[in-house]
Amino acid sequence: MERDYQGRGYGTLLLRKAEGYACGRGKRVLTVKTYGGGDYEPYIRTLNFYKSRGFKVYKTMDQYKPFGGQPAVILMKPLKC
Ligand SMILES: CC(C)(COP(=O)(O)OP(=O)(O)OC[C@H]1O[C@@H](n2cnc3c(N)ncnc32)[C@H](O)[C@@H]1OP(=O)(O)O)[C@@H](O)C(=O)NCCC(=O)NCCS
Repeated sequence: MERDYQGRGYGTLLLRKAEGYACGRGKRVLTVKTYGGGDYEPYIRTLNFYKSRGFKVYKTMDQYKPFGGQPAVILMKPLKC
């Protein structure tokens, strides 16, 4: 998300919309993939954003393609539909 729009509630709103959309189509889990290195503050905040909204780390991968060599983390959230 563009920096000027961060912290205004849009991420939370989009997540809520995505959950409703997924529930309405019979899905029961949401997944997110993001940078998982844990050494860069904006990405740590991103990870914490998802964790504080019910996502749990499912797996950390070695490669965050297309940027090979950087770790990626997959998070999952069970939906209460
Ligand atoms: C992470 C992100 C999706 C959150 O969306 P948002 O609209 O900024 O978040 P909201 O305003 O809905 O909610 C604010 C929450 O997000 C957290 N947050 C994470 N990154 C933030 C940022 N850059 N600015 C403000 N709040 C941020 C706040 O700590 C707050 O958490 P809390 O409510 O649990 O206290 C968005 O900030 C973003 O895209 N940041 C850029 C991250 C990035 O470059 N990611 C690339 C990874 S591959």
